[in-house]
Amino acid sequence: MFDILFVMIFGLSGRVLTKDTDTKGRFSSPVVDVTEKQLIIERNQTLQLNCRGRWEVHWVLPSGVPKVYHGTQIEETRCGKKNNQYCSRLMLSPALAQHTGSYRCRYRQKQRKQASVYVYITDSQQPFVKVQSEIPDVVYMKEGEPLVFPCRVTNPDAKVSLVKFPFHRLAPDYRNIIWNSRQGFTIRSPTFFYIGLFSCETIVNGVKYSNKFLTHRPVNKILDVYLNSTGLVHTLQGQMLALNCTVTAEWNARVSISWTYPQKANGSATIIRRISRSRSNMLFYSILTIPTLSKADRGLYKCHVTSGPSKRETNTTVIVYDQPFIRLKHRDGPVVQASAGQKSFRLTPKLRAFPAPEVIWLKDGMIAAERCSRYHVDGISLVIRDVAEEDSGIYTILTGIQQYGLYQNLTLTLVVNVKPQIGEKTVSSQQPGTVQRGSRQALHCTSHGVPPPQIQWLWHPCPPKGLS
Ligand SMILES: *[C@@H]1O[C@H](CO)[C@@H](O)[C@H](O)[C@H]1NC(C)=O
Ligand SMILES: *[C@@H]1O[C@H](CO)[C@@H](O)[C@H](O)[C@H]1NC(C)=O
Ligand SMILES: *[C@@H]1O[C@H](CO)[C@@H](O)[C@H](O)[C@H]1NC(C)=O
Ligand SMILES: *[C@@H]1O[C@H](CO)[C@@H](O)[C@H](O)[C@H]1NC(C)=O
Ligand SMILES: *[C@@H]1O[C@H](CO)[C@@H](O)[C@H](O)[C@H]1NC(C)=O
Ligand SMILES: *[C@@H]1O[C@H](CO)[C@@H](O)[C@H](O)[C@H]1NC(C)=O
Repeated sequence: MFDILFVMIFGLSGRVLTKDTDTKGRFSSPVVDVTEKQLIIERNQTLQLNCRGRWEVHWVLPSGVPKVYHGTQIEETRCGKKNNQYCSRLMLSPALAQHTGSYRCRYRQKQRKQASVYVYITDSQQPFVKVQSEIPDVVYMKEGEPLVFPCRVTNPDAKVSLVKFPFHRLAPDYRNIIWNSRQGFTIRSPTFFYIGLFSCETIVNGVKYSNKFLTHRPVNKILDVYLNSTGLVHTLQGQMLALNCTVTAEWNARVSISWTYPQKANGSATIIRRISRSRSNMLFYSILTIPTLSKADRGLYKCHVTSGPSKRETNTTVIVYDQPFIRLKHRDGPVVQASAGQKSFRLTPKLRAFPAPEVIWLKDGMIAAERCSRYHVDGISLVIRDVAEEDSGIYTILTGIQQYGLYQNLTLTLVVNVKPQIGEKTVSSQQPGTVQRGSRQALHCTSHGVPPPQIQWLWHPCPPKGLS
């Protein structure tokens, strides 16, 4: 008794549950009243499709059906037992071969939820969906991607072959060459063989029909991108900035060059483009010019280059100074030391300036380089070769930007240290003479060095006679 009751309750609740999920699951996507995945009708017939769903639906038609076509009719109604569903009927009359394709019914709000049916509209006089125009269609080949000759047909049973001009007939092998009546021919791994003029051909009632294609391999190789100043560009407010981005690419390549820069939103720059060809390459120039720089123009300037899927970029940072300046300071204090005999010595103060100043070095009030052939100026440094004692002295660096009347001087003192030397040692090695006991003897030691050496006398008693 207990058991039966339990089963009844369980059964009931189970049914309610399944019914609930049923209605929820049922129209999660709209439903079209064609159970087969494809439909075949004849030209001039009427195509009629019905779609039903829980929300409003709309139709997406093949590209061959004009957006505004007098033969298209759509009727939308509320339907279902409680009128809580949405129905839409599509009628296309007369249906034409070029209307062949996938008909989709979607929820207006949830576009990914859709039902579709592929409709072939057969026409013995139009076996290909697209009617061949005078000029062949261009098909672009992309590296590493399959090549598709889109010769869709209006009859799924059509026998179509692919021909490379003038007479190379290619049969589908279902490995590399694949035929599909809804797509055309697909070449999975196209080689250079597939560059040229091709046609899809079929014969209906003894009449040959074709769709012609010209394959084209776009050239996208960017060989080099060059910005005429990389790193830092130092400039002054009010001056002009010009950057030249040069792209070298393969012959026949098309590239597009764009810039990003701090004041791009204001459009403060003008950009000029030029193309030139050399025997082996194409050169593309893009020259960005800002006629009058302001502080806001400082920052990163990037030149972006694209050619098909290829991308490259290069950049430079622009520093804009308010005004010209020179800042000159000692690096290690006003007195520097070197040693006599040093191979070379460099006097280098700290200098920051814009624009680059002229530099003159003086030694003791005279132009250093004219004073001694061992002195030469390298950048802003004074280099002294084979340092000697006489190089000690007062050195002055004069810096100036004449254009702006800016000048700065800095003086430093060089002390050349000399190792102490004993003069007598160089004269002769005196033999130890004998002197009379009790006499007065003067011993001389002459020494020189910088700084002046201290002299210290030491006395070593002679070893007792017997020991030597
Ligand atoms: C379709 O109709 C057109 C004109 O209405 C007619 O010329 C053509 O022969 C018809 N085609 C077929 C296959 O019935
Ligand atoms: C840009 O730079 C290239 C390479 O240095 C040069 O050949 C070209 O003349 C420059 N363009 C202009 C307008 O100066
Ligand atoms: C870069 O090229 C432009 C345009 O040719 C030129 O005006 C500018 O002076 C060049 N800049 C450098 C740093 O060479
Ligand atoms: C550039 O635009 C910004 C924002 O629109 C503005 O604040 C700024 O003053 C502009 N700079 C120049 C030089 O026009
Ligand atoms: C600028 O270019 C250099 C190399 O030329 C690169 O290392 C750097 O990441 C680039 N900077 C930016 C911000 O793109
Ligand atoms: C720099 O030195 C030169 C020559 O001794 C002198 O005429 C000039 O007044 C000095 N300038 C400054 C800014 O000290």
